[in-house]
Amino acid sequence: MADLIVYQSKYGATAEYAQWVGEALRTDAVPVGSLKPMQLVHADRIIIGTPVYLGKMLMRHWIAQHQGYLRNKPVYLFVVCGTPAGDSEKTGKIVKDNIPAPIRDKFRIYFLPGRVMMDKLSWMDRFLIRLAARAKKKASGETLATGVNYVKKENLAALLGTLDRSPVGPSRRSEAGKGFLL
Ligand SMILES: Cc1cc2nc3c(=O)[nH]c(=O)nc-3n(C[C@H](O)[C@H](O)[C@H](O)COP(=O)(O)O)c2cc1C
Repeated sequence: MADLIVYQSKYGATAEYAQWVGEALRTDAVPVGSLKPMQLVHADRIIIGTPVYLGKMLMRHWIAQHQGYLRNKPVYLFVVCGTPAGDSEKTGKIVKDNIPAPIRDKFRIYFLPGRVMMDKLSWMDRFLIRLAARAKKKASGETLATGVNYVKKENLAALLGTLDRSPVGPSRRSEAGKGFLL
């Protein structure tokens, strides 16, 4: 069984989850920029990791461009973001806005909590986070000063459990993790 783990990450949270998935499946996680077309062709299962920025998955264009391959293989998508996994209205909108309708329902999708380290962000991203937090009146002063980090291995339990069993079974979304900031 050849597993392909492909991901994109801006500040490292998705990359860290991808490395852990790779360790569990004993295969390398590949940043999307380094992916060779044959790796996609030879994969039996495809695991995609993407963060969300301003409602957009970083991997959305790649997913749309490779629909032909993704339609015919088991696909597991883990989405790293600040939206709580349990907020089905918001997670449903993210899925609908980023995954083309013909392949959406065949993906198994897991929302995982990410992190925001304020001192690592670009000036623009820090500004956007402060703006969003002010609008929602949700984040505490402390959170905005330092950031939040919910990235931990345990959040992968549902995804790895499904991967260890088999690619068949009903589509479901992970309940793992908390929301933050947004
Ligand atoms: C500028 C900015 C915008 C973001 N927009 C969203 C968003 O629209 N929805 C969401 O759920 N999370 C949002 N997030 C949270 C990120 O998805 C989260 O920080 C994630 O861990 C980033 O993953 P990465 O380190 O792999 O890039 C945003 C974060 C930043 C810094």
